[in-house]
Amino acid sequence: MKVLIVIFVYVCLSMLDKASYAADTLTQNSSIIDGQELISAGQIFCLGFFSPGSSKKYYLGIWYKNITPQTVVWVANREKPLNNSSGNLTIGADGNILLVDGVGNKIWYTNSSRSIQEPLAKLLDSGNLVLMDGKNHDSNSYIWQSFDYPTDTMLPGMKLGWDKASGLDRYLTSWKSADDDPSYGSFTYNFDHKEFAELVIHQGKNITFRSGIWNGVRFNSDDWTSFIGVTAFKPQLSVTKNEVVYWDEPGDRLSRFMMRDDGLLERYIWDSSIVKWTKMYEARKDLCDNYGACGINGVCNIDDVPVYCDCLKGFKPRSQDEWNSFNRSGGCIRKTPLNCTEADRFQKLSSVKLPMLLQFWTNSSMSLEECKVECLKDCSCTAYANSVINEGPHGCLIWFGDLIDIRLFISEDSLQLDLYVRLAASEIESTASASKRRKMALIISVSMAVFVLCIIFYICMKYAKVRKQKTTADLGHRNQNEKQASPLFDIDTILAATDSFSIENKIGQGGFGPVYKGILAQGQEIAVKRLSKTSKQGVTEFMNEVGLVAKLQHRNLVSVLGGCTYGNERMLVYEYMPNGSLNHFIFDPTQGKFLQWRKRYDIIMGVARGLLYLHQDSKLTIIHRDLKTSNILLDSELIAKISDFGVSHILEGDSSAVTTNKIVGTIGYMSPEYAVNGLLSLKSDVFSFGVIVLEILSGIRNNHFKNQDHPHNLLGQAWILWKEGRALEFMDANLDLTSIPSELLRCLQIGLLCVQKFPEDRPDMSSVVFMLGNESIALAQPKKPGFFSEEIEFHESSEKDTFSNNTMTITLLEARD
Ligand SMILES: *[C@@H]1O[C@H](CO)[C@@H](O)[C@H](O)[C@H]1NC(C)=O
Ligand SMILES: *[C@@H]1O[C@H](CO)[C@@H](O)[C@H](O)[C@H]1NC(C)=O
Ligand SMILES: *[C@@H]1O[C@H](CO)[C@@H](O)[C@H](O)[C@H]1NC(C)=O
Ligand SMILES: *[C@@H]1O[C@H](CO)[C@@H](O)[C@H](O)[C@H]1NC(C)=O
Ligand SMILES: *[C@@H]1O[C@H](CO)[C@@H](O)[C@H](O)[C@H]1NC(C)=O
Ligand SMILES: *[C@@H]1O[C@H](CO)[C@@H](O)[C@H](O)[C@H]1NC(C)=O
Ligand SMILES: *[C@@H]1O[C@H](CO)[C@@H](O)[C@H](O)[C@H]1NC(C)=O
Ligand SMILES: *[C@@H]1O[C@H](CO)[C@@H](O)[C@H](O)[C@H]1NC(C)=O
Ligand SMILES: *[C@@H]1O[C@H](CO)[C@@H](O)[C@H](O)[C@H]1NC(C)=O
Repeated sequence: MKVLIVIFVYVCLSMLDKASYAADTLTQNSSIIDGQELISAGQIFCLGFFSPGSSKKYYLGIWYKNITPQTVVWVANREKPLNNSSGNLTIGADGNILLVDGVGNKIWYTNSSRSIQEPLAKLLDSGNLVLMDGKNHDSNSYIWQSFDYPTDTMLPGMKLGWDKASGLDRYLTSWKSADDDPSYGSFTYNFDHKEFAELVIHQGKNITFRSGIWNGVRFNSDDWTSFIGVTAFKPQLSVTKNEVVYWDEPGDRLSRFMMRDDGLLERYIWDSSIVKWTKMYEARKDLCDNYGACGINGVCNIDDVPVYCDCLKGFKPRSQDEWNSFNRSGGCIRKTPLNCTEADRFQKLSSVKLPMLLQFWTNSSMSLEECKVECLKDCSCTAYANSVINEGPHGCLIWFGDLIDIRLFISEDSLQLDLYVRLAASEIESTASASKRRKMALIISVSMAVFVLCIIFYICMKYAKVRKQKTTADLGHRNQNEKQASPLFDIDTILAATDSFSIENKIGQGGFGPVYKGILAQGQEIAVKRLSKTSKQGVTEFMNEVGLVAKLQHRNLVSVLGGCTYGNERMLVYEYMPNGSLNHFIFDPTQGKFLQWRKRYDIIMGVARGLLYLHQDSKLTIIHRDLKTSNILLDSELIAKISDFGVSHILEGDSSAVTTNKIVGTIGYMSPEYAVNGLLSLKSDVFSFGVIVLEILSGIRNNHFKNQDHPHNLLGQAWILWKEGRALEFMDANLDLTSIPSELLRCLQIGLLCVQKFPEDRPDMSSVVFMLGNESIALAQPKKPGFFSEEIEFHESSEKDTFSNNTMTITLLEARD
């Protein structure tokens, strides 16, 4: 009996062993066809045939075994897809891995001329497919490995860069389309020099981004600060006479790094607690990452919103007009030509991404002083810097000719390099002596002040009021002149207009910060939104709003007069809306009486027209994304104006929807597919519009709707009453229902159509405007709306997303009242 068990166990074990051996390895006697897979020993990766997205082509690829949706990390035949599923992967007679189609044509194969006794292809747990000799398991003797032929993804352990001996250059190439086409896209990520370690993104022949040079510790960029504390991977670089390579050492979690089809570099880390990839942007994360964003001899500063670009000290825009209209392509030129004597001086620029190495010279053992001397020796030398910082800053890099692609880093730390830019002596002297003069002037004025303090104080007290009015007038005047050129406001103008943001002028508190009323010197009333520094509205959103809204002109959109930046502060200047926002009227029992049906109907129509303009009548296709009653402002004639474009999204090309990881919006107004899956489309706005219509009709907030008797929300209530023919019970008691119930019912029906659960069941805004305007048009029967009685379900899912899903940044803004 005992013997039997032992034998049984032995047989089982050997079968298991055989099964796993067969599963991760391909021999000359085995093959893989569609539906079969090689699976790595630890069940991490698998290799097989796949058809990406809507493509009808078949590819041989490697993806994660246990991760959905399928995440492909490598493709063998990316340029030669199979037309059907009849591919067959095997090891050919010559020992190479061979993929053939149904009629035996070679589709893809490895290309080694080494003779192998027992060829086998094995899929490793690292995701590497290796061809080796079964007699020799040494990893240095792989005959071929997929890690040497990356597609768009770098996995831990895979090296990017040059093997100088074999001439192998390993780099990433984006897919043509992330959705369904793995063939070569236009973006590559590779080392630019064999002698200097710098990775660049190319689009065709053009550079679109560079990592900055390796300074011995990290790339000369500030991206790496975001790697601090990350344990999922450990970036490594090696520059020797044999190789220039970059790789990630594996960490405690799965991670991958990829060149996206749209030119962005992204890193993903697997978070098993939420079963999702967490994303971190690595490159082209902002405007200053775009190669040469400020032209030659320009400097990009991401904090300097929305100007971003400046000329190097001692330089001026080649064309001031172009520069002022945000065209930086002409770049900057010297104010004073170099003298080319030792009299030239250097201006230090601290903590920067050093310029592109176009024409340069380097010596890794020189000191900074020697470097300077070296630069002065050559008339065409324009700048120098230390080249490395490990073991203290040292080494010399010098540049010849124009300097391009310099950016200031925000986080200053000891691991960053300084640039010394060569200028004519007179340029330095003029700035130096100017600052000396300023210092002297300061000393004199301080001592003067001591003597005449009492007199000045007395005069100030007496004439303070007069002076203040005068200053205000001056500033306003200056502003008026400037406004012609650009929508930028001077901080002094804003301070004068809002009485230095006095509490009396505060008219509201939005999710992004307080709003102040102000009066410009010429009498125009403005509203200034002061974006809180901790606000989620970052630089991008700010630029979004100023840039976008300046272009949009419509009777039902609030007009933005301009923006203002001061240090880290960002402010938006709007036309002032004396009647505030719609929520103050419809949800207030007293105010609600002022808004009778005719007015409410006009507001609904106005919002619909404004939204239609955003969706299809302006030059752009814009999703507002945060439409709600507090974002609908009323002017002096109670005309509705849509405001707050801070989180708006421009749809590009012909796309009608986009999936976003950053879910921004307000509970109660977000459509189900957007709130839960991040699927954003014009129909998301239609849903929000529908909620607004129902709120205007009932005078009740959707997200405050509570009823002890039943679990459904305002939308559910509307639908039930509608279905039961009791729709008039839904209407606000403030409305005179005797007058025009048919119009009210029609609006309710349109509102319900807009909040349908599935986007395709909702009308688009042109139909909405048409239906609202034409009583004779028959309306469809609404079905049960999205978020009907799902208030609880919704809260659950949104909470899950907010707190446990790192890939999603959910900004659920408070309703502003
Ligand atoms: C493959 O098959 C041949 C003959 O059919 C046999 O001689 C050989 O041992 C087999 N090889 C392996 C690795 O199973
Ligand atoms: C697939 O079909 C296209 C068009 O019919 C043809 O050009 C191509 O050679 C086919 N590919 C293979 C692998 O048979
Ligand atoms: C698959 O395509 C090949 C040509 O690439 C063709 O010869 C074969 O008949 C096709 N097989 C099927 C099942 O369609
Ligand atoms: C795949 O190719 C191998 C080797 O040529 C062959 O033995 C096997 O029968 C093929 N499989 C199919 C399904 O055609
Ligand atoms: C295989 O190697 C030969 C000779 O080096 C070369 O001509 C051929 O293009 C290579 N084929 C592939 C698919 O790499
Ligand atoms: C490269 O840049 C030039 C000039 O800016 C542009 O005309 C061209 O389209 C770009 N090429 C690619 C592939 O983007
Ligand atoms: C920007 O300026 C360059 C010359 O410096 C000019 O060729 C180009 O047309 C301008 N671009 C735009 C969009 O005005
Ligand atoms: C260069 O500097 C020297 C000494 O400062 C001065 O005499 C000379 O005029 C300058 N030359 C030019 C071209 O500016
Ligand atoms: C680099 O600089 C050091 C120190 O000045 C010098 O000794 C060495 O010869 C230089 N090397 C080259 C290649 O110029």
